[in-house]
Amino acid sequence: MERRTLGATGLDVGAVGLGCMPMSWAYSTSQQRGDRSLRAVHAALDTGVSLLDTADMYGPFTNELLLGRVLRQRRADAFVATKCGLLVGDGHIVANGRPSYVRRACDASLRRLQTDVIDLYQLHRADPEVPVEETWGAMAELVTAGKVRALGWCAVGAHGARRGGSRDLYDGTIRRLERVQQVFPVSTVQAELSVWSPEALARLLPWCAARGVGFLAAMPLGNGFLTGTLTPGGGFEPDDPRARHPRFTAEMMAANQPLVAGLRRVAERHGGAAAGVTPAQVALAWTLAQGRHVVPVPGTKRECWAVENARAAALALTARDLAEISALPPARGSWD
Ligand SMILES: NC(=O)c1ccc[n+]([C@@H]2O[C@H](COP(=O)([O-])OP(=O)(O)OC[C@H]3O[C@@H](n4cnc5c(N)ncnc54)[C@H](OP(=O)(O)O)[C@@H]3O)[C@@H](O)[C@H]2O)c1
Repeated sequence: MERRTLGATGLDVGAVGLGCMPMSWAYSTSQQRGDRSLRAVHAALDTGVSLLDTADMYGPFTNELLLGRVLRQRRADAFVATKCGLLVGDGHIVANGRPSYVRRACDASLRRLQTDVIDLYQLHRADPEVPVEETWGAMAELVTAGKVRALGWCAVGAHGARRGGSRDLYDGTIRRLERVQQVFPVSTVQAELSVWSPEALARLLPWCAARGVGFLAAMPLGNGFLTGTLTPGGGFEPDDPRARHPRFTAEMMAANQPLVAGLRRVAERHGGAAAGVTPAQVALAWTLAQGRHVVPVPGTKRECWAVENARAAALALTARDLAEISALPPARGSWD
């Protein structure tokens, strides 16, 4: 698989990563099984994926424990990206950016991951109660202590900012990134980027490119929608966030089918099902085409999809493909 370099410190990873969240959190939880997830991680690594994206809150904790079982055997094949800063309570999630907590969280993640160093330690959410410089400073000390190699920032879930009247969804994110850059270099920014959520292209992606900061594209498959495997009205399990997501009502899934059809047309031009080219791969190849500093982290718990997604790294979209995809109608049913 093609390799990409993230951040000024030159973190070297396979061009497509693996989002491990669906193995232990959020989507179709009745389908989550450790043995199957382990096979998915091994298959991804075998196909050239190295970046495994997890977080202490996925499970909570069980996703890191799962990856620990892989890392114990093949640490050298993997680039471990985990996150701290969000605590899962009884029916709620809260941010905690206190330095003492960050230090404890890192030690706990190292234990669960069965490793002595985390390649990329990301701040899952800034804590509104703690100056972000203090949280970032504590994370920087972990680099100095050799427990962490580099630091990343997550800007997923910025929908509230748009409702707050910002000019750009990521205005607030960029302001905070500029503050923490004064404390310690940001190696990566993780934010939603996909054919149906391209907002990061306007300012956040160029901000990263100009500073040598890598970009991890979260939710690159539109939470599964862009793969064309979800049926409008098919329903979701009650604890699946898509059951309450405004883009996943039967009506909006039907209204957004032109996006899937557009990706399918491009896939067909590259040989389609007969050549093993899928809409999911086109969606991922689109994110890869947005810059050499972009690494998508598609999430899955299934071996076959982990391999299919990894193979998107070999799909080179043409200028015509990219123009056709940018001309697709904007998604309906967004958070605003
Ligand atoms: N920093 C943050 O706050 C944050 C927030 C969200 C996500 N993330 C990261 O980003 C990663 C990706 O985001 P995501 O998992 O939410 O969304 P996603 O990658 O856009 O979509 C994941 C969904 O697509 C399905 N899928 C995956 N590959 C497929 C394929 N080839 N064909 C058909 N369906 C496929 C998966 O099904 P199965 O589950 O059945 O495998 C899963 O339901 C996460 O795993 C996580 O690491 C970070």
